[in-house]
Amino acid sequence: MRISTVRPTNPLTCERREPIIAEHYSPAVTATLYLGDRLDLLQEIPNEAAQLIVTSPPYNIGKQYENRLDFISYLRQQKDTLRECVRILSSEGSLCWQVGNHIARDGEIFPLDIFIYRICKKLGLTLRNRIIWCFEHGLHCRRRFSGRYETILWFTKSNNYVFNLDSVRVPQKYPGKKYFKGNKIGQYSCHPLGKNPGDVWSIPNVKHNHVEKTIHPCQFPVELVERLVLALTNPHDLVVDPYIGVGTSACAALLHGRRAAGADNLSKYLEIARERVTLAVEGQLRRRPLGRPIYQPGPRDRIAKRPPEWGDAVNPHPNLFA
Ligand SMILES: C[S@@+](CC[C@H](N)C(=O)[O-])C[C@H]1O[C@@H](n2cnc3c(N)ncnc32)[C@H](O)[C@@H]1O
Repeated sequence: MRISTVRPTNPLTCERREPIIAEHYSPAVTATLYLGDRLDLLQEIPNEAAQLIVTSPPYNIGKQYENRLDFISYLRQQKDTLRECVRILSSEGSLCWQVGNHIARDGEIFPLDIFIYRICKKLGLTLRNRIIWCFEHGLHCRRRFSGRYETILWFTKSNNYVFNLDSVRVPQKYPGKKYFKGNKIGQYSCHPLGKNPGDVWSIPNVKHNHVEKTIHPCQFPVELVERLVLALTNPHDLVVDPYIGVGTSACAALLHGRRAAGADNLSKYLEIARERVTLAVEGQLRRRPLGRPIYQPGPRDRIAKRPPEWGDAVNPHPNLFA
């Protein structure tokens, strides 16, 4: 086994003597970054070793990193991956499959979560949430409404699962609200640690001006995975991403003192994953912090103003553009 010489400086990991990054799985390693097929990595991981499996698989839409298959063959491949994931998932563990649409050549859309749900249900998993991840930017469609959300299917293996809600609470809109009737009248009605974040998550996707952008065309934002890591795992637990790309899931895991393992079959992505994981361990990874409010342009923001030369002659809703 070739092992990276990266040495930890993060207080969460610096007391350990084991290597930080390795190419093959071992329970002693903090991050496994496996170059090759996801099934080959998964086969190295023992039964029930992973607390969280989180991934965004290829959507079979002809991206540079995938061979477009007929839809049935694609689903069969997903089933092979999911079956192995269920085997390595701990009985208190969670599996989060983040997907959008497969788009056929004639433009028909196939929401992948509908198909993945059926596979996971047959594999014995239980759905806990269908989280809507919404974002404002992306391709502008001409023959349908532009896609501005994807979903995360969160499944558990049993009814006895880890869910650390207090680690991911968000500020309330009205924290000073009080009960106005009943035996708690006059007391604050909100939870002092904040509210449950709900199942609609507004988190910017990684586009060109995002601080986390690399050469990968479809990266997760770190904060999306961080929320899952914090809620669904405990320190030192193992987080696995079978399609790890540039290592976002591993970064989110290591930033919070968890272990990680992931595979990608393209070395150009895995090299970046290694760099990002090293930066995460050293506390140097540039990232959008979890919970930062989404930027809203101010009245003085020049590019947020409608150019005067456009006028409003062809505009069917002038009030919207006032
Ligand atoms: C949607 S991307 C995941 C990106 C990742 N979430 C990130 O933040 O970087 C899917 C990844 O799966 C990889 N991939 C495709 N087929 C694979 C296979 N059979 N085994 C391992 N990785 C594969 C692709 O190279 C691609 O990087």
